[in-house]
Amino acid sequence: MILLFILFEIFVFVIALIASFYFINSFFTNAPFVPVKKRVLQQIIKALDLKNNSVLYDLGCGDGRVLLEAIKDNENIKAIGTEKNFIVYLLAKWRTKNTKIKISCIDLKKISLSDATTIYLYLFPNIMNKLLIKINKECKKGTRIVSCSIQFDKLTPDEIIDLPITKDKLCQKIFVYILK
Ligand SMILES: C[S@@+](CC[C@H](N)C(=O)[O-])C[C@H]1O[C@@H](n2cnc3c(N)ncnc32)[C@H](O)[C@@H]1O
Repeated sequence: MILLFILFEIFVFVIALIASFYFINSFFTNAPFVPVKKRVLQQIIKALDLKNNSVLYDLGCGDGRVLLEAIKDNENIKAIGTEKNFIVYLLAKWRTKNTKIKISCIDLKKISLSDATTIYLYLFPNIMNKLLIKINKECKKGTRIVSCSIQFDKLTPDEIIDLPITKDKLCQKIFVYILK
């Protein structure tokens, strides 16, 4: 009985430790982990328009769900994710084990985008302006950028895809940009 109690205490302690670590990490990122809704995954994949030689980056990849769906759509692509929150990164690593998806636990500002053909974003507005400067500096013309919900202030989308309006009001639009 005492052993059971001790084990329970250890379990609660570990959960509390993981939760605190998650919240501390979230505090230092520009967007919390709110995974894109499963109901819009197919529209996102369609908007990404992946080809055999595509190099796809998910900047702030969360649990890796978009990358997983992307390699299901086309297994010949290169799929790369970066996630700053260590707990969420571990989740993405676990979910993408046994796949060729590469996930790293670094700030998206520090990842080179020079070989990107396609970039997927689901971030907060406060990071978008700085990110656009980086994208303009590092990416080649023709790079396709697909952003869920949030648009760039200083770039006109080439396409806006309207998604069905739901109660949660999340993911109502997808913005597609082709770098000029
Ligand atoms: C709204 S979630 C989207 C997750 C995933 N892209 C999706 O569509 O399901 C944003 C993610 O970006 C991560 N993030 C925020 N700022 C970041 C940064 N500077 N570098 C890397 N990841 C970041 C957060 O930790 C969070 O998991």
